Amino acid sequence: MIQAENVSFSYSDQGPTVRDLSFHVGKGEFVALLGANGAGKTTTVRLIDGLIRPTTGRMLIHGADTAVTSVSERAKHVGFLFQNPDRQICKNTVREEIMFGLRTVRDDESEEQLNARCDKVLEDFGFTGEEEPFSLSRGQRQRVALASILAVEPEILILDEPTTGMDYRECCHIMDRIRRMNEEQQVTVIMVCHDMEVVLDYADRALVMAGGTLLADGPVSEIFRQDELMEKASILPPQMISLARRLGDGFDQADTPEAMAEAVLARRAEGGVRHE
Ligand SMILES: Nc1ncnc2c1ncn2[C@@H]1O[C@H](COP(=O)(O)OP(=O)(O)OP(=O)(O)O)[C@@H](O)[C@H]1O
Ligand SMILES: [Mg+2]
Repeated sequence: MIQAENVSFSYSDQGPTVRDLSFHVGKGEFVALLGANGAGKTTTVRLIDGLIRPTTGRMLIHGADTAVTSVSERAKHVGFLFQNPDRQICKNTVREEIMFGLRTVRDDESEEQLNARCDKVLEDFGFTGEEEPFSLSRGQRQRVALASILAVEPEILILDEPTTGMDYRECCHIMDRIRRMNEEQQVTVIMVCHDMEVVLDYADRALVMAGGTLLADGPVSEIFRQDELMEKASILPPQMISLARRLGDGFDQADTPEAMAEAVLARRAEGGVRHE
């Protein structure tokens, strides 16, 4: 579905910002892109979306090279949620906003079909359509931006720090909705995220970047257990993983509070928690 082949990209002649990236993401995967500030994450997702094109190497979406497909063609397949919803929202009501995106991307469909898509997504997100986006909270505006992307039904969803600045409830709202799309419609998700607790809860696989290169690619829970890698990438693993690792034997696979509780009970049944 997404194939990066030795992709490098330079913003200027100062040398490449991302270097020799190669990875493949299949349909229905939920992948997190991790790394410190300036590691090249946003550059990488912009390359996937085709907003920028590789200086060398190839980026293929569905086998089609982003160097030759048009932005409007790709917009049918790829939805991009920016970190700041206000860069995305441009209309005065939620309905107008959603219809604007639909008309732009689904330009081959009738007005009735577009209205039906709009009604469905409004109901799903609990909007009447008459709300004015700029009088809503930031979290709600992020939901408006997400609704207008999902209305188009993209096969690939790119999220660049989707939950920054949100409170816990808003974060769960957005992330649960994204997970539902991923599970029910097999939408492929690529998420840049600095919140490792969110990554552990929602993503299955992680790509780790540092200094513009790809350091590692693997299951999230395995990636977080590699101390040297975490240090190199300046990532602080989720508390649950750090705790599990400190507790050692029998706790190694405890990634969730439930698994941790079970491991504690099992240890107790064996005759108490061992002190090392
Ligand atoms: N439009 C641009 N022109 C020139 N340099 C840029 C541009 N955008 C980003 N860069 C540089 O490229 C490098 C990688 O930036 P990028 O935005 O991809 O990092 P990031 O991993 O998304 O970081 P953050 O976590 O801070 O969002 C940085 O050194 C940045 O200064
Ligand atoms: Mg970024």
